[in-house]
Amino acid sequence: MAKSTRRRPLREDPIRHIIWRGDRLDVLDQRRLPRGVKYVSCRTARDVAAATADMILRGAPLIGCAAAFGMALAARKGRLKDVLSAAPVLRRARPTAVNLAHALDHMLAVAADGPEENLAERMAEAAVAYHADDLGFNAAMAGLGAALLKKGSRVITYCNAGALATAGIGTALGMIRAAWLAGKIDRVYACETRPYLQGSRLTLWELMQAGIPATLITDNMAAHLMKTRKIAAVIVGSDRIAANADVCNKIGTYGLAILAKHHGVPFYVVAPSTTVDMRTAHGDDIPIEERSVAEVVEIFGVPIAPKGAKAHHFAFDVTPHELVTAIVTEKGVVSPADGDTLKKVISKR
Ligand code: MRU
Repeated sequence: MAKSTRRRPLREDPIRHIIWRGDRLDVLDQRRLPRGVKYVSCRTARDVAAATADMILRGAPLIGCAAAFGMALAARKGRLKDVLSAAPVLRRARPTAVNLAHALDHMLAVAADGPEENLAERMAEAAVAYHADDLGFNAAMAGLGAALLKKGSRVITYCNAGALATAGIGTALGMIRAAWLAGKIDRVYACETRPYLQGSRLTLWELMQAGIPATLITDNMAAHLMKTRKIAAVIVGSDRIAANADVCNKIGTYGLAILAKHHGVPFYVVAPSTTVDMRTAHGDDIPIEERSVAEVVEIFGVPIAPKGAKAHHFAFDVTPHELVTAIVTEKGVVSPADGDTLKKVISKR
């Protein structure tokens, strides 16, 4: 993976976090945010897989879009065998977000559906279209989701489910942005999201760039906030939704959903149909990524636990669908959040 020398000031907007150049994919290095803006150039499918595994890019829909471009890079020599061998490399990059598998299966179908002579062109066009589709899904979900909120809403969000995690304006943050534009948002409370701090590093950055009133809280402040302030909703994204409507998302989401239920706060999940995995019957069947414990016992390389301390790093958890008020997809709102309603909404054309 070649390191690009391009550096830009943080103020520059809008966020261009993956840029398709035809012969390479330039990726904004999200590990460095909000300290600085730096791009990494991916020239092969292996580069895209490494960037995904290393969290240079992240967020379920974005992982899928990048994988589609990774497959387009694999097809550049016009050989089907290169495409077939790239797919498992990309598939292994991260196990939980099903958008990755969705994108790869889609690109494999495109590859199989025509001759090798124009394989490179077909794959590049399909990746661009896949990316554009996600952008459209974001806009559709934002409108449907914003309609669920009333004027003056104070909402809590978790992890980063914004532009940085998708091709467009985001899933949960897309809904929040649309609601804010409609004058419905009083304030967004963003949980910091230990251990990787997507909330404090990325969500706060996005909200502040957009000028949306935002306050950072540590994850353990959510219960107190729900008890002492009027919170209208908790709004999160998802990495995989099982057929029974159980929702897998960033570690800590499950706890937040229990708190919301206890305090009578609606719990909304915003996710495109590419996040729904009808082949996984139950949330408990979703593979949960475990990452390096170094990300738990250190923050930016600084130890925060005694040397040799044992630790866990589960990157995701599963929220039972009974705790979810509604799932907002681009095809419609799944409410009640159960398997039958999910199937009905997702099977719409
Ligand atoms: O480990 P990450 O940063 O890729 O996890 C991201 C999340 O869990 C997001 O909340 C999820 O992908 C929804 S994003 C639109």
